[in-house]
Amino acid sequence: MRLKNSNQDNTQDLSKPTYNPSGRSFSGWLGGKSQLARTIIEMMPEHSHYCEVFGGAGWVLFKKSPSKFETINDINGDLINLYRVFKYHLDALLQEFETQLISRDEFERLKVIPSHTLTDIQRAARFYYLLRTCFGAKISDPNFFSHVERPRHLKLGDELRQVLTAIHERLQKVTVENRNFDVLINKMDRPDTLFYLDPPYYNCENYYGKDIFSRDDFVKLRDILKGIKGKFILSLNDVPEVRELFGEFNLHSKKIRWSLNTESTDENNGKELIITNFPLPE
Ligand SMILES: C[S@@+](CC[C@H](N)C(=O)[O-])C[C@H]1O[C@@H](n2cnc3c(N)ncnc32)[C@H](O)[C@@H]1O
Repeated sequence: MRLKNSNQDNTQDLSKPTYNPSGRSFSGWLGGKSQLARTIIEMMPEHSHYCEVFGGAGWVLFKKSPSKFETINDINGDLINLYRVFKYHLDALLQEFETQLISRDEFERLKVIPSHTLTDIQRAARFYYLLRTCFGAKISDPNFFSHVERPRHLKLGDELRQVLTAIHERLQKVTVENRNFDVLINKMDRPDTLFYLDPPYYNCENYYGKDIFSRDDFVKLRDILKGIKGKFILSLNDVPEVRELFGEFNLHSKKIRWSLNTESTDENNGKELIITNFPLPE
């Protein structure tokens, strides 16, 4: 839709994305938002630039229709290298998996190789292998996952080509960044930017590695978000400390099931707080 922006003397393409039920990421991710994606996408206001600040495996990006401009960012260099290789070197990456063996020995061998000793393509293949064969997608300290009754996550051959070709195509117009959250927000903030922010949960700051996100960063994030020109949607665990920190914004509580593989009990259910700087229709 083409709308005239009365504050600036130019026109901009604003659109409201739709939810794509068949959209899928390339992997699970600790705290990944596959279950919450629909709720978040349906809350999205019109925008021209969609910017995902704490990208992880990008479940919201992969389940939404494309916006005019899109950015995905994460502080994890191995992960962002993987996105770049999906985007630019898919065939070379697939070649790395042509003779790949899935075994605990191979997992342990790859785990101890320092990623700076590898080419970008080898680095991406190593990271993707570890991510898809480890327990619970806990890549910061991975353990090999094996289960007699559950299928393995890492697909090979034609199945892998099919999954990763969809990722390659979806990423063609997406800008991939590897910045700290504050640098990225300041760089991308415009009146027509929509930020989606999915930082580590409160009290789980170290889940993605040491010294990349601290308790104080929640205050820093809140203070940056207070002053932005664009709009944001932030998802966090619904705990009193988060409600107090972000209390000046609009707060929406959503129940979610933490694990798909367990029964729905209070222990397996959690509450997510979705925080916005714009009102949502009742
Ligand atoms: C909850 S996960 C995001 C999950 C993602 N929404 C998904 O659906 O897969 C949080 C992400 O924040 C990233 N992160 C942690 N500290 C960061 C920082 N200081 N700047 C940017 N990204 C950071 C982590 O590497 C992790 O991938």
